[in-house]
Amino acid sequence: MNMSGNTILITGGTSGIGLELAKQLASLGNTVIVTGRDQAKLDLIGKEHPSLTAINSDVSAPAAIAQLYDRVTKEFPKLNVLINNAGIMRKINLHDRAVDFEDLAREIDINLTGPVRMVKQFLPHLKAQKSSAIVNVSSGIAFVPFPISPIYSATKAGLHAFTKSLRVQLKNTGIKVFELAPPSTQTPLQNAFDSTDVKASANMDVRKLAREAIKGFTRDRLEIRPGLSNVLNWISRIAPGIGLRMTSGPVDAMLARTQP
Ligand SMILES: NC(=O)c1ccc[n+]([C@@H]2O[C@H](COP(=O)([O-])OP(=O)(O)OC[C@H]3O[C@@H](n4cnc5c(N)ncnc54)[C@H](OP(=O)(O)O)[C@@H]3O)[C@@H](O)[C@H]2O)c1
Repeated sequence: MNMSGNTILITGGTSGIGLELAKQLASLGNTVIVTGRDQAKLDLIGKEHPSLTAINSDVSAPAAIAQLYDRVTKEFPKLNVLINNAGIMRKINLHDRAVDFEDLAREIDINLTGPVRMVKQFLPHLKAQKSSAIVNVSSGIAFVPFPISPIYSATKAGLHAFTKSLRVQLKNTGIKVFELAPPSTQTPLQNAFDSTDVKASANMDVRKLAREAIKGFTRDRLEIRPGLSNVLNWISRIAPGIGLRMTSGPVDAMLARTQP
């Protein structure tokens, strides 16, 4: 896909991977709109990156998605690329009685239901463009679960499966369906984890991740699995049990702290 001259909407584009993609895509001559919930971060984008348009919108709120659609398609009728990037990742101890289902479901609402709602809302508009794309940002964890983050793992595996089905259903349209499955990457999302959960040295630099993603879009590589994500994908095929053992270590420390 030609990665200049597009009009691109990135959910969760005020930080980390979304913001870095926004900056690099804008520098390639694309019009870029980013969303997020934190108004302070959106205001900062307006000041530091005036070429980006920043809009307050929550992917887990259906009314906000409808409003976003009305505004963006009116102000940017050439919108032709949707990047579903917004996501949260938490450590969750399923033994913890203080964690109720509503709390668990927040992660599902943002990471899985959010992209599905966004696709449903924007699909007619994207179909009407000559050339368009949907990019769903999953994770290497889509291929091998990370049991200390059980809901996150489920949402990313779900998003991976949804993306494959979407690609098949859109095969007779002009919409390319990409999946970007980042490996562990240095962003604020990692702040909830310490060195016993994730080795900082294993993290990919976010600028490198964004460059690899854009190279993948340009080459029409529909499933982009930079670095360790590709390794996890192979392990999930040839030795899934070993893969799960490799990612299960941090759970032992968590269980040791669990009250009976
Ligand atoms: N970093 C990694 O190691 C890694 C690895 C694999 C995959 N990923 C995936 O990459 C994506 C980006 O993660 P990141 O590492 O860049 O995290 P990040 O730095 O924490 O950025 C997350 C972005 O999503 C936004 N966001 C969160 N909830 C939202 C909601 N309900 N509606 C709209 N925006 C929302 C955040 O802004 P507000 O909080 O202001 O809303 C922020 O802009 C996520 O889907 C994540 O799962 C990350």
